[in-house]
Amino acid sequence: MKHIDSAPSTPGKFKMEKSPYNNRLRLQSSIAKLTFWSFVFLGLIFVFFFRSSSSPSSLSSPVSSDLSRRSLRTSSYDGPNFEKRVRASSKIRSRNGISVLVTGAAGFVGTHVSAALKRRGDGVLGLDSFNNYYDPSLKKARQALLENSGVYIVEGDINDVALLRKLFDIVPFSHVMHLAAQAGVRYAMENPSSYVHSNIAGLVNLLEVCKSANPQPAIVWASSSSVYGLNTKVPFSERDRTDQPASLYAATKKAGEEIAHTYNHIYGLSLTGLRFFTVYGPWGRPDMAYFFFTKDILKGKSIPIFEAANHGTVARDFTYIDDIVKGCLGALDTAEKSTGSGGKKKGPAQLRVYNLGNTSPVPVSDLVSILERLLKVKAKRMIMKLPRNGDVQFTHANISLAQRELGYKPTTDLQTGLKKFVRWYLSYYVDGKKSSQ
Ligand SMILES: NC(=O)c1ccc[n+]([C@@H]2O[C@H](COP(=O)([O-])OP(=O)(O)OC[C@H]3O[C@@H](n4cnc5c(N)ncnc54)[C@H](O)[C@@H]3O)[C@@H](O)[C@H]2O)c1
Ligand SMILES: *[C@@H]1O[C@H](CO)[C@@H](O)[C@H](O)[C@H]1NC(C)=O
Repeated sequence: MKHIDSAPSTPGKFKMEKSPYNNRLRLQSSIAKLTFWSFVFLGLIFVFFFRSSSSPSSLSSPVSSDLSRRSLRTSSYDGPNFEKRVRASSKIRSRNGISVLVTGAAGFVGTHVSAALKRRGDGVLGLDSFNNYYDPSLKKARQALLENSGVYIVEGDINDVALLRKLFDIVPFSHVMHLAAQAGVRYAMENPSSYVHSNIAGLVNLLEVCKSANPQPAIVWASSSSVYGLNTKVPFSERDRTDQPASLYAATKKAGEEIAHTYNHIYGLSLTGLRFFTVYGPWGRPDMAYFFFTKDILKGKSIPIFEAANHGTVARDFTYIDDIVKGCLGALDTAEKSTGSGGKKKGPAQLRVYNLGNTSPVPVSDLVSILERLLKVKAKRMIMKLPRNGDVQFTHANISLAQRELGYKPTTDLQTGLKKFVRWYLSYYVDGKKSSQ
């Protein structure tokens, strides 16, 4: 080995002595070199494959790129700090309190429901993907709001089964308030797969984890008034037909109701679907008419007001967020326990569906008049024909079932509710100088 040790760093300049010993040495050293470069080559191949399989490629479908991003993300959920935050947020602080996993907690309804549960002493853990369907900075601002009241929102997708299982391992949630979804009616023509991803695949993944959890939680989830679709019988009652959806969004919510039936039937999960009717209020959704009308009226931009055939009025049963929150809490509080265990049904479980509306439809042109008065700005109205791409002409809820069984009783009319919305809007976007994009 002495020879090798004394070899200069530039091998070409080393003059080999011609001896059998040296020949063997040369052979040995070239075998060593060959082995070395083979390892380097194999290493490069390995690195190449590893990187290309773990980085979302632009060619892969949205779902498979989600999968790879998910596996990278999950690692940040390890560690005692994560568990500590999850536990602290889920801690029940009142007698007879419940522990609730709220999906879509950085969303409009999710934020309000989470805050209300926390206020009365329940344990609340949020989960949200913070997707960019609308300005994620609004979701982050809602998250900061919840953070201040002690609610932690885990950033993750409801399709991440490993994450969901982990959360149930840490906390034996008694309830799940499932609000995560791809909302919006017209966006379904632009991005149909996002509806399948969140409202169908995501729902199934969540229910799969819930059915195997011990104990199984009771689940309350958001369906939609849009399931009534082309139904013309008013007011809409829970037993009316819901087999004529007018949008893919509505179809995925209807599918959700059927999926809920299946998981209730096979696994004994307690399931309650809430059909919300056009929810509005502070911290609302920028993609909804009352919200972008406000923005555009203030900017002096003209706003489209739809009318149906023969100048028919388009009307909505606008429901104020605080009323919806009371309905959600009423549903959680009256939910019976799931009956299954070990992933098996042990007996029949509760299966319910309720309308949560306001029972007073308001023409969209009246909505605009109220906004004009509150903003003290005249709107530039642009009357247009209602396109047949998802929106229905009117919605009107019969809420007698929710009234009877959940104690649901909406108390806020559109005028009062919009006043609170406008006050929030001005303080958030105008005084707060946040960009409304
Ligand atoms: N606001 C309404 O008028 C209305 C009417 C009928 C039904 N709904 C339903 O009520 C629920 C809440 O609606 P909202 O108005 O608060 O909407 P939102 O969009 O503000 O909230 C939904 C939240 O879910 C999150 N999310 C979406 N997909 C996810 C996924 N795969 N994994 C994790 N998080 C995900 C989003 O980031 C968002 O923060 C939704 O199910 C919606 O379909 C709302
Ligand atoms: C409202 O729904 C209830 C069932 O919950 C039904 O008995 C009642 O007839 C409905 N009312 C109207 C006006 O459709």
